[in-house]
Amino acid sequence: NYYAVIMAGGVGTRFWPLSTQQFPKQFHDMLGTGESLIQKTFHRFENLIPTENILIATNKNYENLVLEQLPKTTKKQLLLEPAMRNTAPCILYSAFKIFNENPDGIMVVAPSDHWIENEQEFLNNIQTSFDFCADTDALLTLGIQPTNPNTGYGYINFTEAENSIKKVKNFTEKPNLEKAKQFLKSGDYLWNAGIFVWSVKSILNQFETHLPEMYLLFKNGITCYNSEKEETFIDESYPNSENISIDFGIMEKAPNVFVLPVNFDWNDLGTWGSLYNKLDKDKNENAFVGGDVIFRDSKNNIIRTQPGKRVVIQGLNDFIVVEKENVLLICPKDKEQEIKQITEEVKLKF
Ligand code: GDD
Ligand code: MG
Repeated sequence: NYYAVIMAGGVGTRFWPLSTQQFPKQFHDMLGTGESLIQKTFHRFENLIPTENILIATNKNYENLVLEQLPKTTKKQLLLEPAMRNTAPCILYSAFKIFNENPDGIMVVAPSDHWIENEQEFLNNIQTSFDFCADTDALLTLGIQPTNPNTGYGYINFTEAENSIKKVKNFTEKPNLEKAKQFLKSGDYLWNAGIFVWSVKSILNQFETHLPEMYLLFKNGITCYNSEKEETFIDESYPNSENISIDFGIMEKAPNVFVLPVNFDWNDLGTWGSLYNKLDKDKNENAFVGGDVIFRDSKNNIIRTQPGKRVVIQGLNDFIVVEKENVLLICPKDKEQEIKQITEEVKLKF
């Protein structure tokens, strides 16, 4: 009864110029380990879930990239989106597709681009969540101990309980900085890891209540899923869906949200700075991936170049330097959030 849905439709703009619309970050070997992030995610789930029950939700444009990188997957496992509509529609589509095959299905939904260590602990947490959701009408999310007032995450306020799994009082997606600071200070909040577990029945019920139009749009295809009619139906209907994330659309509103606090080492690899934190560093806290770098009188830099590139960094502190083909980015680490806007300017200029 277990299924996984790996969401791999994002573009990862803050990792420009490495991550691009044509080749987003989940398909890159971000840490220089020999595997891309999506390959790592897929193999992690293979330890718990039958390979044929691991589905990949992604944009149609990335079909070939997925099939190349995950040669064990067949077309049946791919949910190909003809338009970018954020995570709610892709999750609803996957829930109907699984429901159609197995109405008792329990699914885990996970991003394709996170870094997770302590694999066994992660799998134990997922198994605990599966067991819970098999007999509770619950939307369960994994909760991470927050370390800073990051405004890019969902914040979860839960009720104290003896059990490891706790009832959620409030789910606040991407609060402003003031609120995030308040949440952090109170000590009663966890970050939403963006990894969800529920039965297909439970999530479909919540969509019916909180996003009824979207629910009907996808329900119309119930006879098409897992048949040769699926692609045509999706191509025609998907672009008509509202553009909203699961967090704003469902998690903030549903009454039956639960959280399992987890302790595995988690990093959402959202920016160059978060990648820097994960990489090995020299004694001056410099990190690099790709080329051969000599650092002189420099500290706290992250350098990513093409393999074999010889780079000398002299007298530079706290910078991101990224080279890809004919593009070079040099940006102070504390301005990394601006890379998203930079990509917009780049589109207009080049
Ligand atoms: N298939 C598909 N289609 N995948 C998508 C789409 C889409 O249209 N949009 C985004 N994704 C994928 C991304 O590739 C990523 O793996 C995942 O869905 C989450 O999307 P993000 O855009 O990265 O969300 P976020 O980081 O802003 O916020 C989410 O994750 C945080 C933790 O990293 C939320 O769930 C937050 O509450 C959470 O704290
Ligand atoms: Mg993210």
